[in-house]
Amino acid sequence: MTYTLTTPLYYVNDRPHLGSVYTTLICDALARYRRLKGEEVIFISGCDEHGQKILRTAEAAGESPQAYTDRISGCFRSVWQHWNIGLDRFIRTTDPRHRQVVQEFFRRVERSGDVVEGRQQGWYCVACEEFKDVAHAAEDPQCPIHHRSLEWRDEQNLFFRLSRYQSAIEELIRRPGFIAPAARRHEVENFVAQGLRDFSISRIHLPWGIPVPGHDGHTFYVWFDALLGYITALLEPDDPADLDLACSRGWPASLHVIGKDILRFHAVYWPAMLLSAGLEPPASVFGHGFLTREGRKMGKTLGNVLDPDRLLEACGSDAVRWGLLRDVALGDDGDFQQQRFTDLINNDLANTIGNLLNRSVSMARKWFEASVPPTGEALAASHPLARAAARCREQTLAAYDRPDFKAAAEAIVELAVEANGFLNERAPWKRIKQEQERDRVGEDLYAVLEATRVAGLLMNPIVPELSARILTQLGEAEAGHGTWLDQLDWGRLPAARPLPEPVPVMQRLELDSPL
Ligand code: MSP
Repeated sequence: MTYTLTTPLYYVNDRPHLGSVYTTLICDALARYRRLKGEEVIFISGCDEHGQKILRTAEAAGESPQAYTDRISGCFRSVWQHWNIGLDRFIRTTDPRHRQVVQEFFRRVERSGDVVEGRQQGWYCVACEEFKDVAHAAEDPQCPIHHRSLEWRDEQNLFFRLSRYQSAIEELIRRPGFIAPAARRHEVENFVAQGLRDFSISRIHLPWGIPVPGHDGHTFYVWFDALLGYITALLEPDDPADLDLACSRGWPASLHVIGKDILRFHAVYWPAMLLSAGLEPPASVFGHGFLTREGRKMGKTLGNVLDPDRLLEACGSDAVRWGLLRDVALGDDGDFQQQRFTDLINNDLANTIGNLLNRSVSMARKWFEASVPPTGEALAASHPLARAAARCREQTLAAYDRPDFKAAAEAIVELAVEANGFLNERAPWKRIKQEQERDRVGEDLYAVLEATRVAGLLMNPIVPELSARILTQLGEAEAGHGTWLDQLDWGRLPAARPLPEPVPVMQRLELDSPL
């Protein structure tokens, strides 16, 4: 079974920012985890390029929408390359094949009797591309997310009969694991309990969109078009634009990872659209929290947007990945604080894990012919570090499955802390002076090196480059896909294997000025 995993398709009204990087890193870590376990993964990202917001941004930039979206989608593509994000597909909703997939999908929905004409009146947020409920008639109603004026709309357009899917959606959201984390499921339950209302799926007088077949002058509402990008993305490069073929390549999606602001679209509208077209809803939707910076929302107007490329250059990808995934519990909101971020990297990666590796390799090299010492009793499952490694493995894998990177990272650091504690307690640097202690010292060092190897392997989904450096330091090749779980078994490190001269695997971060 293919594991199809998606990031949202990012609006191209701006270059990638820390929020888009955050979502994409979460997905990249999950894709790596699944691949390491030997699963076949299709990892999808891309850009959402139609609609009023993009059209206006292009106009403001003095460019045609096509030229503008070509340029910004190119930025996204190159940022993901710099960050070594292992995407299998990058979909642009302006892809010609996408137009055909959307139109075919619409015909199916129409045949199901789920498209009706109606009049849409209400307050619209162009930044959200969504009608907003305005409880009290105010002079100048604002979008609660963007703090910008809403625009009054009154137009005749096509509606999707979402109201017909009330009970199907109620049943779906009760399915265990469909919406995670639990708090997000409650939000959706409350929304659905108010009664689902039909929503408009077309726009008139908006040329920058996909034409609705059979309805002159209408283009698709940007969300109707964008969600289908997840399906078009499944087409292989030489495939024709065929909806069924696309689905056969990996639908339903196993997991949509999204921010909490776009939960409704993914957990309610999208599954109903799919059911209407006779297709399966996604297996699960994970809504993560929002990142702020030093306690403030990041935004162009505040001038505090963190440029991903600058961050990458100053810190390296391991540091950023660790800092973001380890510090914030996945569903919670998180705050990027530079000092806290540097302390975390330096404590966990440079001091705890890096030093453990460095000192144990140095000792083994010094006293055991520059190689892994004999195992002695260290292979016993009852060895304290064997137990610690087994516990760490169990906790980390369970955390990756949930997914909960904070818990996974904590379990890995805990193993390194235990190994450091063991080393301090056994003080091999004192005991090596007595010849009769030599075998026991070797055994202790073996156990520490082995615990470090297990920690190094387990951290691979979060910090793949650091993981590779740790394994190289232990004379190992990086874990291959499908062999990772086996390699986690205690005692896999072969005695007598030569150990290369130690080099620091993680530089301390010293950032003197705000990024
Ligand atoms: N184009 C739609 C998605 C269509 S999916 C078929 C969209 N794009 S977006 O670019 O505005 O947002 C993409 C994702 O980035 C959303 O999941 C949003 O929650 C996330 N983030 C935007 N700012 C964020 C933070 N500051 N922090 C964390 N994630 C945030 O919505």
